[in-house]
Amino acid sequence: MCRPTYFDVTYSINPWMDPDRPTSAQTGLAQWKWLFDTFVGLGHDIRLIEPTPGLPDMVFAANGALVVDGKVLVARFRHPQRRDESAAYLEWFGHGGWSTVRQAEYVNEGEGDFLFTGAEILAGTGFRSDLRAHDEVREFFGRPVLSLTLVDPRFYHLDTALSVLGDGQIMYYPGAFSPQSRAALTERFPDAILAEEADAAVFGLNALSDGRNVVLPRAATGLADQLREHGYQPVGADLTELLKAGGSVKCCTLELRE
Ligand code: ARG
Repeated sequence: MCRPTYFDVTYSINPWMDPDRPTSAQTGLAQWKWLFDTFVGLGHDIRLIEPTPGLPDMVFAANGALVVDGKVLVARFRHPQRRDESAAYLEWFGHGGWSTVRQAEYVNEGEGDFLFTGAEILAGTGFRSDLRAHDEVREFFGRPVLSLTLVDPRFYHLDTALSVLGDGQIMYYPGAFSPQSRAALTERFPDAILAEEADAAVFGLNALSDGRNVVLPRAATGLADQLREHGYQPVGADLTELLKAGGSVKCCTLELRE
C-alpha cells in the first residue's frame, strides 16, 4: 500500500476525476488509514512503499505491478502523469528478494487490469492496458490468460468491474464488458455473482477478498447482501475521497504473491 500523503486530483485521466472539485488530502489519509487498520485487523501483512511528491495517484498501489509466484512485472502506465511511478516500484521490488523483476514492455497497469484467480490471470483491455500486454503476461508468468474487453469508460480498469472472491469464484458487472467478453465470463464462471449497475457505479466491485471477508465500498449495499447470501462477510469501507480520483479498496492494494 502507499500512504496518500500527496493525494490530489490535479488532472483528469478517467471520468471520475474533476480537477475543479476540491479534495482533501487529510480526509483521504484518514479514509486510507481506516483501510490499512481494517486489513491489519483481518490479519493481512502489509508492506508500504514511500509516496513520491508530484505523483498524486500513487496511493493506487494496485497499478504498480503484477506479482505472481514471486515474479514481478512492473507497470508501464498509459498516461504521462503516472509514468514516473514505475521507477519507484522497480526500486522497491529491486530490494525485496523477488525472483525476477522487470518492467513490462507494453502498456500494462498492473493489478488494475490483471487479476489472478489462483489458477489463471484475467486481463482487461479497452482503456488502459494494451492487448499485447496480455501475451506478455502469459509468457512472463507462464499462466493461462483470459482477455476481457472493457467498454464503459466509468469502468476503465478491470478491477473496477470485476473482483476475485477466491476458490474460483468472482463477481462482476456484465455491462462493463463487450458482448464477447460477457459470453466468455458466463462460460468460464457460470456461478459468478452478477452486480447491479447501482452497486458497480459506487465502485462496489473494487473489493478485496480473503476468501471469507470482502472489503468493499460501503455504498454498495445490494452487493453486500448478495455476498452475504453466498456465505461471505462484507466489510463496508468509506473511501469516497479517493473515489474522486476513480479509485477505492482494491486500487489501494497490490497483492504480493510469493
Ligand atoms: N486516478 C487513477 C487513474 O486513473 C486511479 C487508479 C485506480 N486504480 C485502479 N486499480 N483501478 O489511473
